[in-house]
Amino acid sequence: MKAVAVTPPKPNSVHLREIPEPRITRDHEVLVRVLKIGVDATDREINEGLYGNPPPGDDYLILGHECFGQVEAVGPAVTHVQPGDLVTCTVRRPGNSLYDLIGRNDITSETTYYERGINLLHGFLTEYFVDEAQYIVKIPPGLAHLHVLAEPMSCAAKAIEQVFEAQRRLQIWDPKVAYVLGAGQIGLLSTLILRLLGLEVYTLARTEPPCLKAEIAEGYGAHYVSTRQTSLEELARQTGRPDIIVEATGASAMAFKAMEVLNLNGAMVWTSVTGGERYVEVPSNRINLEWVLGNKLLLGSVNGNARHFEQGIRYLSQAELTYPGVTERILTHPVDGLENYGEMMRLLVEEPTALKVYVNVAEPRDIRTETASTTAAT
Ligand code: BGC
Ligand code: ZN
Repeated sequence: MKAVAVTPPKPNSVHLREIPEPRITRDHEVLVRVLKIGVDATDREINEGLYGNPPPGDDYLILGHECFGQVEAVGPAVTHVQPGDLVTCTVRRPGNSLYDLIGRNDITSETTYYERGINLLHGFLTEYFVDEAQYIVKIPPGLAHLHVLAEPMSCAAKAIEQVFEAQRRLQIWDPKVAYVLGAGQIGLLSTLILRLLGLEVYTLARTEPPCLKAEIAEGYGAHYVSTRQTSLEELARQTGRPDIIVEATGASAMAFKAMEVLNLNGAMVWTSVTGGERYVEVPSNRINLEWVLGNKLLLGSVNGNARHFEQGIRYLSQAELTYPGVTERILTHPVDGLENYGEMMRLLVEEPTALKVYVNVAEPRDIRTETASTTAAT
């Protein structure tokens, strides 16, 4: 079968290759037929040779960590999914730390982490894959149109969950205003979650409206602010300082800049994975002083485990009732077929209006119909 792979750390090595079809070999495994795969800045950085590693013993890494597929077959011990079900799959696999052993591989305390399509494990940008049932998460048929957003949504859901978990330190914290920095997929999905949680949300990005990002953010009832028109400091003077900041711009300078506007007792979460080198000067004394006197919190959040995928899927369900039709507008740039990997990468690197590039790999089969006709024929 076909797969799209890279040979890290060589830049621009994305290519199509033939690999053997996987088979179920253990009782707890699930065989998934890939329907769609989303790609993001992480895939871009991997192809640039800035990030990611192939599995030990292989010189190539199959890309793709945002997956939407259909269960093709299950091992005898699998109960929560069955052939025909629409599913997604988590990205990270456990190492050996205690966190990994209790199912929290998203917060492993080991420096080496194992992520499908990113680090040391092959990804999903192929026709079929096999994984253990515990990593397979069901997508309700009513959310099939949001397909590859399940993975980025899990990362956004985890980041915001972590903020609220950590802020229990304050006993009666009741956040009112949130800033989301960046209006890419993580920024927009974080905007959505914070709106569903009832906050007044300001989503900041460079692009000046009118633009799709602004329409989506406003579709969620948030305020879209172009930083070309209003600076962060100016906005904070107008709205009052935000209690929550979600940083999702991909620009580390912004992550530090935003430290200057967080409210007393506030929390800021960083979600961008910034490969390569960059240096900035910051007013360190002032930030240090204000953070100490204001009991402020900065946390980093990466990945999402199966529970965060489920939480994200619940948010997406609620979103379809509350802001119907808005979220699917994030899915801007489909590419048909694995063999069009060149176009996929081109859009990812060059297309400024792309909020989400994804590959249509196959159409879902209606397993029930097939079974019925086989039965009828025999
Ligand atoms: C993925 C996460 C992953 C992170 C770090 C992101 O693009 O969506 O699942 O943990 O990269 O590798
Ligand atoms: Zn990602």
